[in-house]
Amino acid sequence: MNATLIPNRSRDVQVAEIGVNTLILRSRTWERLKFEIEYSRQRGTTANSFLIQADKKVLIDPPGESFTEIFLEQIAQHIDLTTLDYIVLGHVNPNRRATLKELLSLAPQVTLICSRPAANALKTAFPEWESHIQAVRSQDTLDLGQGHQLSFITVPTPRWADGLCTYDSATKILYTDKFFGAHICEDTLFDEDWKALDAERKYYFECLHAPQTKQVEVALDKLTVLGAKCYAPAHGPVVRYSLSRFTYDYRQWCQGQKSQELSVALLYASAYGNTAILANAIAQGLIENGINVESINCELTEPAEITRIVEACDGFIIGSPTLGGHAPTQVQTALGIVLSSAAKTKLAGVFGSYGWSGEAIDLLENKLKDANYRLGFETIRVRFSPTPFVLQQCQDAGASFAQNLKKTKKLRTSRQVVTETHVDRTEQAVGRIIGSLSVVTTRDRDHHKGILTSWISQATFNPPGIMIAIAQEQNADLMCHPGDKFVLNILKEGRNVRRYFSRQSSLGENPFAHLPTQTADNGCLILTEALAYLECTVQNQLQCGDRYLIYAVVDKGEVLEHEGVTAIEHRKSGSQY
Ligand SMILES: Cc1cc2nc3c(=O)[nH]c(=O)nc-3n(C[C@H](O)[C@H](O)[C@H](O)COP(=O)(O)O)c2cc1C
Repeated sequence: MNATLIPNRSRDVQVAEIGVNTLILRSRTWERLKFEIEYSRQRGTTANSFLIQADKKVLIDPPGESFTEIFLEQIAQHIDLTTLDYIVLGHVNPNRRATLKELLSLAPQVTLICSRPAANALKTAFPEWESHIQAVRSQDTLDLGQGHQLSFITVPTPRWADGLCTYDSATKILYTDKFFGAHICEDTLFDEDWKALDAERKYYFECLHAPQTKQVEVALDKLTVLGAKCYAPAHGPVVRYSLSRFTYDYRQWCQGQKSQELSVALLYASAYGNTAILANAIAQGLIENGINVESINCELTEPAEITRIVEACDGFIIGSPTLGGHAPTQVQTALGIVLSSAAKTKLAGVFGSYGWSGEAIDLLENKLKDANYRLGFETIRVRFSPTPFVLQQCQDAGASFAQNLKKTKKLRTSRQVVTETHVDRTEQAVGRIIGSLSVVTTRDRDHHKGILTSWISQATFNPPGIMIAIAQEQNADLMCHPGDKFVLNILKEGRNVRRYFSRQSSLGENPFAHLPTQTADNGCLILTEALAYLECTVQNQLQCGDRYLIYAVVDKGEVLEHEGVTAIEHRKSGSQY
């Protein structure tokens, strides 16, 4: 974070002409406006509004409530509000509603123009405004006279589902709302010195757009065909001198994100914005640590798309508010998809905002733990709105999740790194089959034996049955005949129990002397440090090549540890263990 000297100036509204019949009203603050991560460079910001006065008069994007009073004072000097025809909203948030309320009381004749999702949100919050609200779609137009033909372009993203840009053909100004902005407050209106803006622009992109690059690219495709000569964003300088360079930067930054080696799916829903703020802070911690984040607003994303992202990601983090004692239905649906389609080796995380009981967060955490996912940070529970301290914690959690993910990845790839030059290609390919590392324990009266194997798989659902391939030299005659009993101990990753049973073991004949055990109902030993165990009875034996295939039915079993994942044997070649 960058602490910059803050000039001691009070808030004001700077007004200037930026095109024919077109004023900009920049509500300015030199201080950090809010504690959200995007303002942390502390260069102040501007909330830009625009007034086009042709035959019809339109105000685009009035500011949030931090500026309501000074903005209304200033705009009254440039227009009689009783003559205002339209207010166009690039997005709606609770903060902007305060100014809207005032405007509607001063200009009761006005029509509010916004996207359909914004119209729905406004109608729910203010049913009394219903007759004022007009929803528009892409390619809808509004003729203000004197050549000012406005076209609307919907640009939904996970963060602003209701995003709407507006293009004026008379001035060739594109009103880009959350695109192409920067949080910086200066007297300079335009971007003459655009090189000096690079750091602020990049930071703004990383905070707002890096977790939603896919949707940003779609928006760029829609916006660039318009041939605008000027971008008028919601924050920071108007873009006149660096328009093509800035557009190119956005493309490059999107590409940069997508080409990161590791990616995290960040799934959430947020009815009142608090969980979304937490999600943004976590995303920032991940992005700063070189992770590609794919934000999924569960309320806007189709199940098939969620499945695709969750299957492709290296880790996932899921967040929810608690409403009426539950997680919203869309979060429950997303959780179901995660549980059925995310590999258990993927790193997971849980967060959420709640008011008093927080059941949704408990539900998410318990379900993921029960399903054996490993959590990359301690679950984040936040009452109502987060404080700056909590946001820093979220950012730190994102950073430690990223580090955890990199460590896990390194472990897996280093195991799979192969000095492959001398190994036959077919053997290399066969060697990519992996199995759960397990110890089979058998018993001959008072004598117990343990055999390390990873040549194992589930063979049947009904009855639950497994298949093990055993070599002659493994001396496994006690588990080869129908009716023989054994216990399959499935080992846990990171706990080196295998060393007691490897052929090179220096621990002598009785590995069980060094390990805690219990006796199973079938008389064989359970390794209590295993992740889970299965008591089995052999049903069939088949001699194939240099192995016996043993099919056994599972009589009973138990998970011994709900945390942790199964140890897996990675091999260089299919010609050896
Ligand atoms: C209609 C409604 C129902 C709520 N029910 C619960 C609840 O059952 N338990 C709880 O802990 N909080 C409850 N809350 C509080 C919300 O979880 C809290 O406001 C949270 O910050 C909302 O997160 P969001 O801004 O991401 O939507 C409720 C809030 C509302 C408005």
